[in-house]
Amino acid sequence: MIRLFVAIPLPETVRRRLAGLCSGVRDVRWVAEENLHLTLRFIGEVEEPQAVDIAAALHGVRGGPFPLALTGVGHFESGRRVRVLWAGVEPSAALTMLQERVESALRRAGVPPDSRRFTPHVSLARLKAAPPRRVGTWLEAHSLFRTEPFLVERFVLFESYLAHSGAIHSPLEIFALKEDQPVGLGG
Ligand code: 2AM
Repeated sequence: MIRLFVAIPLPETVRRRLAGLCSGVRDVRWVAEENLHLTLRFIGEVEEPQAVDIAAALHGVRGGPFPLALTGVGHFESGRRVRVLWAGVEPSAALTMLQERVESALRRAGVPPDSRRFTPHVSLARLKAAPPRRVGTWLEAHSLFRTEPFLVERFVLFESYLAHSGAIHSPLEIFALKEDQPVGLGG
């Protein structure tokens, strides 16, 4: 079995900016700078032959490069406990369309549909059981965070290996977004 997800890798300059947000809350696990990414779809565990089908289907995803900016910070809660701190993504029709195309490619490769709505974000930290008040100062301090737009030129099928030291992400296959395949046309 192999644990997969599809994500947009972030330029080094953007990852460095994000790493600047990664302090100031106690008892959290900050994501390592080299691991910061924008998840398009978490797939989970699949058998190797299906991984081959998934990669083949993703090769069929059409779309050209598009600009994207990160903006603001936020958190996800469950059970009234903060679980994730994240940086936000400026709304982008091209990003939504890319995510939908990835989703339908995965469907063709036999991946069950994801019932959760796509909420674009870049996870910065995972927390075990923090009460919301513990992250209030951090949220306020970074509310005006914003990056310059950067060009999204590829997306990646990653393997996520769960090591004792944390998840190790390795790119399995890179899919270029080509100029002659503008997102929104064809496909
Ligand atoms: P995230 O972007 O919200 O952090 C690799 O583990 C990526 O897949 C993570 O970045 C994580 O999302 C995403 N993911 C989504 N659902 C997951 C799950 N149930 N378990 C682990 N990772 C998940």
